[in-house]
Amino acid sequence: MTADRSSHKNRIFVLIIAIVVVALGLYVFYHWIEPVLRASLDARMGARATEDSLIKIPQLILWSILAFLGVRALSTLIFDLLFRIRRGYEAPTLIRNIFSLVLFTIIFVLIFNKIYSEVNLGAIFTTSAIFGVIIGLALQDTLGNFFSGISLHADRPFQVGDVITVGQQKHTGVVEGITWRAIKIRTFQNHIVLVSNSNAAKEAIEVCPRDNLNARLVFFGTLYTDSPAKTIHVVRESVRDADNVSEKITPIVRIRNLGDSAIEWEIKYWLEDYAKYNDTDALVRQRVWYALRRSGLTFSTPTLTLHTQRKAVIRPTTAEEQIADRLSAVDVFSPLSPEELKQLATATVGHVFAPSETLIRAGDEGSSMFVVHNGRVAVQVADKGGPRTVAVLSEGNFFGEMALFTGEPRTANVVALEETEVLEIGHAAMKHIFETNPSLAESISWTIAERQADLAAGSLQASQNSVHESAGVLASIKRFFGLR
Ligand code: CMP
Repeated sequence: MTADRSSHKNRIFVLIIAIVVVALGLYVFYHWIEPVLRASLDARMGARATEDSLIKIPQLILWSILAFLGVRALSTLIFDLLFRIRRGYEAPTLIRNIFSLVLFTIIFVLIFNKIYSEVNLGAIFTTSAIFGVIIGLALQDTLGNFFSGISLHADRPFQVGDVITVGQQKHTGVVEGITWRAIKIRTFQNHIVLVSNSNAAKEAIEVCPRDNLNARLVFFGTLYTDSPAKTIHVVRESVRDADNVSEKITPIVRIRNLGDSAIEWEIKYWLEDYAKYNDTDALVRQRVWYALRRSGLTFSTPTLTLHTQRKAVIRPTTAEEQIADRLSAVDVFSPLSPEELKQLATATVGHVFAPSETLIRAGDEGSSMFVVHNGRVAVQVADKGGPRTVAVLSEGNFFGEMALFTGEPRTANVVALEETEVLEIGHAAMKHIFETNPSLAESISWTIAERQADLAAGSLQASQNSVHESAGVLASIKRFFGLR
């Protein structure tokens, strides 16, 4: 913006210098060149009338250049500096062009009348019908565009920055400007398309204004065996916090058709920045894939060929041995025997989350904990300036234990930093483990106490208080799990 303003100032400066140079030129012409020219023409021709009109030509040219530069300087001053500062956006090119053209024409006619006072310009224009017809025919398209451009500006159906679909070929893109000839849009393939004003004026224009909450529809299909209520819940929750999906209106997930081979769904969601709808559509589809997979829902097969449908099975995400392997690397589970680890592995459920998806929300109820199997998550708490990351957990780390073991609401948000696979361990599985391994409750209480202190006051105080805190946590774990 500042660089812009200084470039406008530079332009005005250059124009003022040019004006001074031309004014000097005029001065030199009137004081030195004209008398010399007159004398030499006198000597050669001696006829005053011809001599006069010859001398007037450079006069007219110099005055016209001066007028042109003056109009340019005035237009830059009014539109680039004053208009931008007052209104905060660029003045429409068309208005600027009309302003410059009209002002220059008026000044030129005045100069012409002054220099060639014996010529009647009005008579020339009014009597020359043929001239008018020729000009009219030649400028038919240009004038059509010009007047359509004026009506587009007067109507203001869209503005620079809006996304529009226009023209017979239904070009879609972001409006970059309206000139006296055409609307200029930048398509999502980064091409520039110019749609002439007169064509645009005849066609329907679909406008998605920048400051409007514009909606999009994304479609998908599920098997008939999947529960619609579950699908609605799962998909809506996975889409609502995706990037660029407006938080002001909750996305709608609804059945649009009971098709031959699938329940056909549509997701209607509203965007904060409509110009990025391609990316957001893709992100929404990605979220749907992850959400369906996690919840054991299945995409339909979009085909009408004969198709024997297998029962939808919820396949475990990873093999049991791999899970047991992963659990054995979790520090608090190290005292467990291979047999116990195997039992625990059977009781876990695998889930995959997309990058930036929320796994746990602070304040929610929680009756399970998670072990990071692949990927990374961030533990975040709300701070004045937005979310603050208190820890990043990766493969072999666990989270969600605080709510599971104490019965309190979730203490923090946990967000996937990349595609992340977690293993969920429920209350029942943990109770069983505690009964055979009482020492486990103690080591978990240490972790919880440290994390609680971390959340409350930072890591320094955490280490000072954790001995004291862990005893309290251990007591509440025992109480909550009914242990002796
Ligand atoms: P829970 O409260 O169930 O849900 C949020 C989880 O974030 C919490 O359990 C812990 O597992 C985890 N958490 C909270 N604070 C920290 C911390 N300081 N370091 C690591 N993990 C934490």
